[in-house]
Amino acid sequence: MQSPMPLVVILATGGTIAGTAASSTDTTGYRAGALGVETLIGAVPALSAHRLEAESVAAIDSKDMDIATWQRLAGRVAHHVARPEVAGVVITHGTDTLEETAFFLQRVLAPAKPVVLTAAMRPASALSPDGPANLLDAVNVAGMAEARGVSVVFAGAAWGALGLRKIHTLQTSAFGGSDCGPIARLEGGAMRQFRAWPEGEALGLPRIAAAADAWPRVDIVLNHAGADGGLVDAAVASGARGIVVAGTGHGSTSIRLDAALARARDAGVRVTRASRCAFGPVLPRDSADAEAAGELSAVQARVELQLALLLGDDQ
Ligand code: SIN
Repeated sequence: MQSPMPLVVILATGGTIAGTAASSTDTTGYRAGALGVETLIGAVPALSAHRLEAESVAAIDSKDMDIATWQRLAGRVAHHVARPEVAGVVITHGTDTLEETAFFLQRVLAPAKPVVLTAAMRPASALSPDGPANLLDAVNVAGMAEARGVSVVFAGAAWGALGLRKIHTLQTSAFGGSDCGPIARLEGGAMRQFRAWPEGEALGLPRIAAAADAWPRVDIVLNHAGADGGLVDAAVASGARGIVVAGTGHGSTSIRLDAALARARDAGVRVTRASRCAFGPVLPRDSADAEAAGELSAVQARVELQLALLLGDDQ
């Protein structure tokens, strides 16, 4: 007897993958998150052979992603992953903050089953949308017994969240930046795997339950020619408890920005050093340096610092 297809739950949050424009040739002037999840599934005939459940968690442009939506999403993912009959979960999302959501979910849930985020660069109404193939690949990965942890399946590759970056504003191959490369390539439903699936220790839902307005404020400041540190002082004055500085090159900062960061530290503000470069880590200067972002992009370093402050590991 043939074993049944694995059950995959699709959670929709919006994004370009669910976007529509007035014309099929318009790939920039569209409304993200306009289509329901059943419509996305219906656009992929090959998905009719799969066992799927679908649920809408949000219908937003991911530029508007926020803590409350993250909490709701993490709760729904945890619920479905805990169901014995569910093999894995797919999340449809916008590309703009995908790397932050993927990183957040891996830190909070570190699921033993596959949780696969996917997205699209072209709206569903485009002449040749990229969403349907990405969704099919994501469902295939979520149903694989060997897959685990939070991954991003996009343009024929599966990536771990750590260090992943959106690296292009328009092209359909929009993700990269992790020095290790993708976990796997997906070719016609088959997978060629190069690296291990993400693992880690879950922080757990109870530790992120505080209301969004009680979460510590963490801002990002950039180093650039002429940077004078004024934005660091403004962030501290606005109540920031953490600052991520996206420095030049290997996380360097101008003399005046450095001075402002020193004032912030003196005021009890935690600082993380990341880079404004598209690729590469910021490594610790010595064994006592706890401020280097490592592989994390500046936006992921912001999430990490916010979680650390929320959990009170700075005391
Ligand atoms: C969004 O992030 O929701 C809009 C852009 C996209 O999905 O590519």
